[in-house]
Amino acid sequence: MDVLKGKRIALGVSGGIAAYKAAELLRLMQRSGAEVSVIMTAGAKQFVTPLTFEALSGNPVYHEIFEEGAGRMEHIASASKADLLMVAPLTANTLAKMAQGLADDPVSITYSAFSGPVLVAPAMNDQMWAHSAVRDNIRTLKARGVTVVPPESGELACGAIGPGRLAELDTILDAVKSRLAQSIDYKGKRVLVTAGPTREPIDPVRFISNHSSGKMGYAIADKARLRGAEVTLISGPTALAPPAGVRLLSCERVAEMRDLVLKNITDCDVLVMTAAVGDFAPREIEKEKIKKRGEATLTLEMTQTPDILKEVSTLEEKPFVVGFAAESENILQSALEKQERKKLDMIVANDISAPGIGFQSDDNQVTLISGPDEQETWPRMLKVEIADRLLDRILPSLKAPLGMVPGRERPL
Ligand code: CTP
Repeated sequence: MDVLKGKRIALGVSGGIAAYKAAELLRLMQRSGAEVSVIMTAGAKQFVTPLTFEALSGNPVYHEIFEEGAGRMEHIASASKADLLMVAPLTANTLAKMAQGLADDPVSITYSAFSGPVLVAPAMNDQMWAHSAVRDNIRTLKARGVTVVPPESGELACGAIGPGRLAELDTILDAVKSRLAQSIDYKGKRVLVTAGPTREPIDPVRFISNHSSGKMGYAIADKARLRGAEVTLISGPTALAPPAGVRLLSCERVAEMRDLVLKNITDCDVLVMTAAVGDFAPREIEKEKIKKRGEATLTLEMTQTPDILKEVSTLEEKPFVVGFAAESENILQSALEKQERKKLDMIVANDISAPGIGFQSDDNQVTLISGPDEQETWPRMLKVEIADRLLDRILPSLKAPLGMVPGRERPL
């Protein structure tokens, strides 16, 4: 069955010469059974008229932001129900607006109000495509989980030859199909993710924590939700916005995170522990702020916190469990030992001593370990890309025959 059948696609068209190709793209998607609504920037109207898209799609075209009446709100409400928003062609200007969160034309407004999967197919002059501002903006969109169908090399409208031509329509169509297929492959699955650092109080003003930003866990939660899962995200303190459509449970101390994990693990299919759980906490929390009192040193007595994954490993019924190991030496060996010790189905190891990746960064370079002879080292990539790849690797273990997960006693 075609994955596009019955799907609602919001097609944003921005103002480049390739705008005319959007009409053919619309046709192709319709032929595959999709219902398409078109959104145009003012620039796009210089190349193709709204009437063309209205006639082809059979739907009103959103092309004017200051129209009278409730039109604008209706357009945004209807686009928000789409299964996928795509922008083809995407110009450098519309890309910049999307990256920066500007919302001053129908396409950028729709994007800023849309929480579903987004796919873009850029088309522009080759020098523009190579410009660092464009590269940065593309990276920003990718980091947000937007699928980018890169332009192809060839003769451009300006006569130059190089990368910038809108990708072949069949390539775009294939990308739309795989993004839509992906957007339901976790349907019916319950995913529990932990993220961020923990925070152990010392006194009313101080705490012990770590550098975790939470980006990896938030990316997994967001991607799993976009792929159709029911997601609960248990998060320590982070500066990140909660991903849309995800149930967020906030905590600070290890003991709180432990309680939330154990409370929410029942009936979940996967637990992904990306949280950088603190290993030690002060034995006593001082009621009053600790004063210097003329002492040159301060000694804090620390005790070990509960090991959440170890506790999970003792549960009679447990989901597929993935741990993360941030190591600074003997990376693979330490991660493998951790996988065995904590009885994990998978562990994702990364080298925190490598510059520019890991903590706080948008990128990471990891090795996925499922057993002594099952290791996959991935190149450096965005955390959102790692999230998708990891979900790809987890999924086959959840798709057991007769609705059973290997190693699990209960049906899904
Ligand atoms: N973890 C946990 N509970 C803890 C500490 C860690 O559940 N108290 C989880 C982390 O979320 C991660 C995995 O265990 O998924 C590995 O964490 P890491 O800190 O690398 O392992 P530790 O067991 O703390 O070992 P180490 O001595 O290397 O710190």
